[in-house]
Amino acid sequence: MERKDRILTGDRPTGKMHIGHYFGSLKNRVKLQDEYETYIEVADVQALTDNFNNPEKVQRNVLEVLKDQLSVGINPEKVTFFLQSMIPEIAELTVFYSNLVTISRLQRNPTVKTEIAQKKELFGESVTYGFLGYPVNQAADITAFDATIVPVGEDQLPLIEQCREIVRKFNSIYGETLREPKAYLSQNKRIKGLDGNEKMGKSLGNAIYLSDSEEEIAKKVMSALTDPNRIRKDDFGNPDICMVSYYHKLFTQSEYENICEECRKGKRGCVDCKKQLIKSINAELGPIREKRKYYDENPKLVKEILMEGTSKARIIAKETMKNVKEAMKLNY
Ligand code: TRP
Repeated sequence: MERKDRILTGDRPTGKMHIGHYFGSLKNRVKLQDEYETYIEVADVQALTDNFNNPEKVQRNVLEVLKDQLSVGINPEKVTFFLQSMIPEIAELTVFYSNLVTISRLQRNPTVKTEIAQKKELFGESVTYGFLGYPVNQAADITAFDATIVPVGEDQLPLIEQCREIVRKFNSIYGETLREPKAYLSQNKRIKGLDGNEKMGKSLGNAIYLSDSEEEIAKKVMSALTDPNRIRKDDFGNPDICMVSYYHKLFTQSEYENICEECRKGKRGCVDCKKQLIKSINAELGPIREKRKYYDENPKLVKEILMEGTSKARIIAKETMKNVKEAMKLNY
């Protein structure tokens, strides 16, 4: 039987999603849901690998991450959302795959390496077995659903490569069973923070959240970094070093050229420019905020979406488990 391409992607529920996620991955998911059978995981088990000492944080964010996605238009009629911890087959596969990867290979994984360096405070001198091994767990996520397409950001490429290696090793030892997935990179690059930082994030305090109110957005935009050499309104500005213009490019596309020209000629003040940006951002986020409000008021429905999706997803994971156990001579 020919197996169709299937998408799997996911997020660690460790915080609310911001517009970096929106442009970087969520918009892409909205588009792909019409083209492929899609599974989206709330990766609570993976989130615990670097939040094992803070289970409340992970729990609190499970439904938040789901609501962020529902509110941007990912449709639960088209996409199957599921909770990682309720699919025990993923944990089981993780154990089987852990024989197929060496410690030194995991230590060389560039993404894992960077993260370990960033998490010195949590891990001290020696990283946990669980965190070092999370790429194996992620390989289990992907293969449990027989997914061939994994939409991710660039930082995740080493994880997909690691998954592909595990699949090849598995198939070479136990016979053709699993399929190698491919990463699907969205065209959008990472979005910079309002302060000009290359990365947007909670710890950096420079993010605009999908759930921010109009007032919060206004406050954040008013404090955004602009051309520091521009003091008076009629000074010639340089939009290339201004975060307000950077965001106009995302949110006020049709007028972007014009905005830059006026800035260069000293014909638009930064305050007016910021006010216009606040309007544009609110125009885009308004409908998202409305939808979110609906889900905020119906928490039972949100939970139901996750539970129904999880039951559906589990059927697929069980099928994979059956094939894997058969291949590994564990079919008693
Ligand atoms: N590691 C991903 C991240 O940090 C989240 C994730 C977990 C994931 N499981 C996945 C992504 C499976 C793609 C496929 O963003």
